[in-house]
Amino acid sequence: MIRVKIPATSANLGPGFDCLGLALQLHNTITVETNRPFNISLAGSYSDGISTDENNLVWRTMCYLWQLIGYPTPSVALTLENHIPPARGLGSSSAAIVGGLVAANSLAGSPYSKYELLQVANAIEGHPDNVTPALYGGVTLSIPTNDGILPRVLARSPKLRAVVVIPDLLLKTEKARGILPPHVSRNDAVFNISHAGLLIESFIREEYSFLKEGMRDVLHQNQRAVLIPGLLDTLETALQAGAYGAALSGSGPTLLALTELELEQNVAHSMLDVFNKHEIHAESYALGIDSEGAKVI
Ligand code: HSE
Repeated sequence: MIRVKIPATSANLGPGFDCLGLALQLHNTITVETNRPFNISLAGSYSDGISTDENNLVWRTMCYLWQLIGYPTPSVALTLENHIPPARGLGSSSAAIVGGLVAANSLAGSPYSKYELLQVANAIEGHPDNVTPALYGGVTLSIPTNDGILPRVLARSPKLRAVVVIPDLLLKTEKARGILPPHVSRNDAVFNISHAGLLIESFIREEYSFLKEGMRDVLHQNQRAVLIPGLLDTLETALQAGAYGAALSGSGPTLLALTELELEQNVAHSMLDVFNKHEIHAESYALGIDSEGAKVI
């Protein structure tokens, strides 16, 4: 039997569209029991809508890796314990893909390195900003190169708390990407490049006072505000409540605020209040940063 623990992730962090992300101390686990009749059972807080047949994303990903490496598909029973809310911008599908790859690789005797698993995960997911932190932990930058995605861990254990506020809205990444214009202006590109640079510097130097400016974005958040009532007000409120910085988590609808420990409750309540005013039910978690990424436990 093996068990894999995979963190939730928050992508973009404002200006780092499709390249910056961080791992959160909120985990799904996958338990694989070998020499059992095929079966998938679900546990944890989020089971609705998750298939338990051969269409299950974790299972499909496992089979995909075994096929890739020429390992005969074994007969296994899976238990998927889901604590990451699905379709909320917290990397639930990346967790399924990364977890499936790590589990299948481990069962096959670990022929693939973490770097190779990242390339497979990115090919399946289509963008690396969630799968890289899900595999490596910490705050990560994913760089598309001619040889695949180059992963960099910018900070493994930043002294920050992540407040995630999850409105009760389902938003599929495809929809949230579909509303973005296909081209960006040079001014907007320069804005995001410079802000992503500042953000990276803030993490590396642990100078979190720069996060407020460094997490500003013009490429996707304003555009997505039409899909998430209260988005921009809530981000502004998080800053007023003392957060270092705040951004849309991935493609949303969850919002992320990075803050110091003492302020996390204040920031969370202030953000929830704004969603309440927009008559949207929301819940919040205050989480640490996961420094390890997916691992076999
Ligand atoms: N970066 C993606 C987006 C989401 O904002 O559409 C996570 O991959």
